[in-house]
Amino acid sequence: MTVTDPYPGASLPLPADLYGRPRRDRTLRLLDAVVDARMRWTALTNRREPTPRADDRRIGVRVVERRIRAHDNEVVSLRLAAADGRDLPRWRPGAHLDVELPSGRLRQYSLCGDPADTRTYRIAVRRIPGGGGSEEVHRALTVGSALRVRGPRNAFPFAVPGHGSPATRLRFVAGGIGITPILPMIRLADTLGIDWTALYTGRARETLPFLDEVERFGGRVTVRTDDRSGLPTGAELVDGVRGGTAVYCCGPAPMVGAVATALRGISGVELHSERFSAPPIVDGVPFEIELARSGEVLAVPADRSALDVLLAHRPDQPYSCRQGFCRTCRVRVLAGAPDHRDSVLTPAERAAGDLLACVSRCAGDRLVLDL
Ligand code: FES
Repeated sequence: MTVTDPYPGASLPLPADLYGRPRRDRTLRLLDAVVDARMRWTALTNRREPTPRADDRRIGVRVVERRIRAHDNEVVSLRLAAADGRDLPRWRPGAHLDVELPSGRLRQYSLCGDPADTRTYRIAVRRIPGGGGSEEVHRALTVGSALRVRGPRNAFPFAVPGHGSPATRLRFVAGGIGITPILPMIRLADTLGIDWTALYTGRARETLPFLDEVERFGGRVTVRTDDRSGLPTGAELVDGVRGGTAVYCCGPAPMVGAVATALRGISGVELHSERFSAPPIVDGVPFEIELARSGEVLAVPADRSALDVLLAHRPDQPYSCRQGFCRTCRVRVLAGAPDHRDSVLTPAERAAGDLLACVSRCAGDRLVLDL
């Protein structure tokens, strides 16, 4: 099958990982350290600032549409247009926006509208009781509200089979609000005539957002709810998946974990996933962080992140995604050997001492942070 690039003029990104975020190879880490040291030296000798990233741009937007998207009234979608009336930066399925809420909170929301629509972005938010950001969206954002966004960025890139992926068919697995990044992927797969199926799960039909838009695709989509069928097993989530399939999965961490485990027994399957919580710490070893300005030394256990430990001592430490892609938790390392585990900082940023405390760790005993 010949697949034309639906977004000519831009390169198709390859998904970063098979099976989510795999453990990192020792040789690669050594290579990373050598490259980082080289970049650090180059940055020092050239005294150049890192080039600002295009997706760090801030855009003023206004809410132009607000709609309830699930029958339990707990999911709202917002359509955002540029405050200056211009076209918005383009995006691809899987992309998200960093949204600066009126309170100053920064939250990430997947884009779930049409990538061809350059006039508006659509995001959707499930209200989580006690979840400050989601409650603020539901309470404070109405048509006309002004806010700022950054991005779009893509931490969950979609590779079209035959054009960036060796797979020949697609399986989408979405849990609840996890349908948001999946929906544009489904639309694109369907438009391109790719062989695809989808499983959409949740507690009950009334909790599932965009059910009307998903069921429009007919028999390719299976809707499975816990109230009728019980909690799905990993095998049920990937039922029918065979070699040559790329699986795109977004939802709660246990669901994503169950899918990954179930797929390990099937060869020739790619898994690309996005979860709602921090990834598990792989090969964690304890280390210390020293706060240079106060002289405090904090112990980071093997099973906790530096951000967790910082938050316990400094509740105002900024953070958002906890998955190493939004950069909100960025701190500056003054001494020590970082073990970078994010995939977004550039070599120049790492050379300048930047570190994402939510996922990255220490390759030695202690990191001295400019805090
Ligand atoms: S909190 Fe988003 S990168 Fe650390």
